[in-house]
Amino acid sequence: MEPVNAIYGGAIHRRITTLDITKSKGQGKWAMLTSYEQLTAEIFEQAGIPVLLVGDSAGNNFLGGENTISVTVDEMIPLARAVVSATKRALVVADLPFGSFEQSPEQALQTSIRFFKEAGVQAVKIEGGAKVTPQIKALIKAGIPAMGHLGLTPQSIHTLGGYRVQGRGENGAAIIADALALQDAGVFALVLELVPAELAAEITAALEIPTIGIGAGKDCDAQVLVWSDLMGLTAKPPKLAKAYRNLREEMSNAVKEWSADVASGAFPEESQSFH
Ligand code: KIV
Repeated sequence: MEPVNAIYGGAIHRRITTLDITKSKGQGKWAMLTSYEQLTAEIFEQAGIPVLLVGDSAGNNFLGGENTISVTVDEMIPLARAVVSATKRALVVADLPFGSFEQSPEQALQTSIRFFKEAGVQAVKIEGGAKVTPQIKALIKAGIPAMGHLGLTPQSIHTLGGYRVQGRGENGAAIIADALALQDAGVFALVLELVPAELAAEITAALEIPTIGIGAGKDCDAQVLVWSDLMGLTAKPPKLAKAYRNLREEMSNAVKEWSADVASGAFPEESQSFH
């Protein structure tokens, strides 16, 4: 089986599938990024990112929320539709936001069908362990691939006591059991967030599906970041992120230069004028 990056970098003119992702286990590491709109989706796909996540992190990175809890399905669907419309080859995964799946498998199915029909995504992500396996089974039965998410699950920060590392010491066994339950239920890949690197390595070795780490050490099969953290746009980035650029400063400087040019009359120049 080919590595995801090789399939994606090759001559195929189709989207990466969840099957490509699952079968890529052990064939080389790859990267997933969040995207919430057209411009970043285009840029990230062209830069070779095979999986784009329309995360509920849109809530606190795009829509001005304090955390991911307030974002709604109605708010996320247009964002997901923009990411799908702007791409041709990336697999687009939408997060099921808080309140849109917990009540029953039927509720999870109804929400996911909306993401499929109204946004055109090819998979959904659902936070939680064994307790959400009935939801996952219902989705897969209906033809909707599901990605799992364990460790720090931001939708549960109020029961977890904040953004804390999960699964230290003896608590790791529960996360391993949840990971196996999610795999048995049929998830095609599993996000591991803010867990000890050693635990993530153990889970990665135990599973047949790829793990996607965020604050979970270097041994996961893939890594994911919130794009604004990667670019240095976020005012207070989490410790798990590494900023590869300082776009916050870049953008601020560009805006200051432009507004000074407007004030001095240096903008617009002749080349931006029409006669
Ligand atoms: O919503 C999100 O961006 C996520 C990633 C951090 C995995 O769930």
